[in-house]
Amino acid sequence: MMKKTILSFVLLWSLVAHAAAQLLSSPDGQLEMQFRLSADGTPTYSLHYKGKTVIAESRLGFLIAPKIDFSHGFRIVSTETREADTTWQPVWGQYRTIRDCHRELFVALEQERSGRLLHLRFRLFNDGLGFRYEFPVQPHLRHFGLADELTEFRLTGDHTAFWLPADYDTNEFKTTTSPLSEVARLMPAARDEALACKSPSPNLAVQTPLMLKSADGLYINLHEAALVNFPALHLNLDDRQWVLSAHLTPDKNGAKGYHQTGSVSPWRTVIVSDDARDILASTLILNLNEPCAIEDTSWIHPTKYVGVWWEYFTGGGSTWAYTDTPDIRIGQTDYTRLAPNGHHGANTAHVKEYIDFAARNGFDAVLVEGWNEGWEDNTAYQKDRIYSFTKAYPDFDVEGLHRYAAAKGVKIIMHHETTSSVTDYERQLPDALRFMNAHGYDAVKTGYVGPLQPRSEHHDGQWMVNHYLYVVQEAAKHRVMVNSHEAVRPTGLCRTYPNWVAQESGRGTEFESFNGNRPDHTTILPFTRLMGGPMDYTPGIFEGDLSVYGSNPAKLSSTLVKQLALYVTMYSPLQMAADLYPNYERYADAFQFIKDVAVDWDDTYVLEAEPGDYITIARKAKGKDEWYVGGITDEQARTATIDLGFLPAGQRYEATIYADAKDADWQTNPKAYVISKQRVTPKTVLRPKLAPGGGVAVSIRPL
Ligand code: NOJ
Ligand code: CA
Repeated sequence: MMKKTILSFVLLWSLVAHAAAQLLSSPDGQLEMQFRLSADGTPTYSLHYKGKTVIAESRLGFLIAPKIDFSHGFRIVSTETREADTTWQPVWGQYRTIRDCHRELFVALEQERSGRLLHLRFRLFNDGLGFRYEFPVQPHLRHFGLADELTEFRLTGDHTAFWLPADYDTNEFKTTTSPLSEVARLMPAARDEALACKSPSPNLAVQTPLMLKSADGLYINLHEAALVNFPALHLNLDDRQWVLSAHLTPDKNGAKGYHQTGSVSPWRTVIVSDDARDILASTLILNLNEPCAIEDTSWIHPTKYVGVWWEYFTGGGSTWAYTDTPDIRIGQTDYTRLAPNGHHGANTAHVKEYIDFAARNGFDAVLVEGWNEGWEDNTAYQKDRIYSFTKAYPDFDVEGLHRYAAAKGVKIIMHHETTSSVTDYERQLPDALRFMNAHGYDAVKTGYVGPLQPRSEHHDGQWMVNHYLYVVQEAAKHRVMVNSHEAVRPTGLCRTYPNWVAQESGRGTEFESFNGNRPDHTTILPFTRLMGGPMDYTPGIFEGDLSVYGSNPAKLSSTLVKQLALYVTMYSPLQMAADLYPNYERYADAFQFIKDVAVDWDDTYVLEAEPGDYITIARKAKGKDEWYVGGITDEQARTATIDLGFLPAGQRYEATIYADAKDADWQTNPKAYVISKQRVTPKTVLRPKLAPGGGVAVSIRPL
């Protein structure tokens, strides 16, 4: 799968035993970084883009627990530079082929007083910088805990930030947009904006991926790549000097990871451009991850799915639980003796309706939540065991449904909500995977709602970071794809483990049913949450007025057409059509776009982008002469400019344009749309009008 076109290693320096500054420039010469030791032997780096400072001289290093300072007193033992220019092909993705073109600087350091060794590796691409720490095997350091990572990102001013409060257990916050100087004032309100379990950082700190925009027009994105056996990174903010510094997620004893030499840290990433479109087009985080670790990937497939899901959020009465009888004892309960509550969602007849709908409309799969024993007690977080992952409720016919779905060419997606009983989940996992194999499931949605019991770990700490990856690795052995909810934010590991097809790890469509997302939410997520990998955002809600179901007054923050556009702007190889299927039957002409749109791509063209305001993206379907365009706006109406110059010349095409109607508006008239067809060529520029909170979706085929 990994195809090397060119690979050149150039050894420029070695055995440089002095502290002179080391310079590295990107392959296109636009970015420059400098590494040097300060007078007291502190390692530092800085980064410039087209002559502008992105990161002023910033320190690097660690505090090793309990009190070893691993940040100064270093000398350079040796340095090396090399260049690489290779291409590789992801199993699925936004591009058929990805180019990895970078220059690397490796620095071996020795702390003179202690004799301890620390290695640094910098990779400079045209789209930004990645660097990581390496802890080589050495005589004076073996096992160690981290008390702190000291990495800094010294910014040059009061940049506008698109930020979430640092939190060790959730990333399901609304994004706050403000200058860095306003973060402290806005923090209390920002912290209120998540419903899930929260553990706020005691410091003034924000989450990564952090999107920044400077007054002089630089777009800067800070995140990490290849988060393995390390706690997730947050960023402390010193809002007087505009310094961000690493804040690793601690465990409940305050330890920031337990390590052994012969290991590496995740890459710290700084993606930068003066054009916001380049941030969305960046492949830096994927390039910093290891190649695919799964030899045979033929069983991994992009998936469009529907599910017994949204009905749990609409207020229409459907429940995950089979019975309302309280005090059941998991593993000992005879469910056949308990009274069914009459509105259990995952009952065989209802699931068959979804399978029929999926088969009729070309969907690959049906997600079924609430199929298994235990949901009556799902908020009893103090229990060690809550759910069974091998026992179905009496009204869910596992084998019958498997045969029914298989006969229609549809898969059922397994659901494992753990409510964070993670030790129990690991105990059940081998049986659960065997159960999936025995009954034809090839994908699982996992869930980690609530605080971690009984371990008192955090969702973003090292122990859980390892857990999520363990599940993905075990699932791969069983040829099962994973979509994890409430897991740590992704860092490009889907390159190495492409069966990790999507994650939630952000504020998805479910929040529309609580108190709503703002219309700018989906114009920000691609610059933040999606930088590390695809999101199971679950778009496609056509009936946005939930009061029609009886008890829920919530209203969607978008027009119907914007819901279509999200299939293109929110990249994922796993896309749900989340609404109740009768709503798709009511708006069958608009639904056609969801039926048609691809979920895997040969190429991607970011046509317009400004975080918080608008995004317009075009993509070519993998292996097909079909193109899809999605454009979205925030609460402001706008005219998109869709230049079809990406279409191959010498052909004529037909575009089907799904547009907001003239009087459409996300608040007052969200379901007004117009569908038109038009002949187009690569010279055509479409200028559709997007309603406030609206969008546009276009499908294009050769005539
Ligand atoms: C939260 C998840 O995000 C949602 O999709 C799921 O339905 C519930 N947990 C129950 O597992
Ligand atoms: Ca969630």
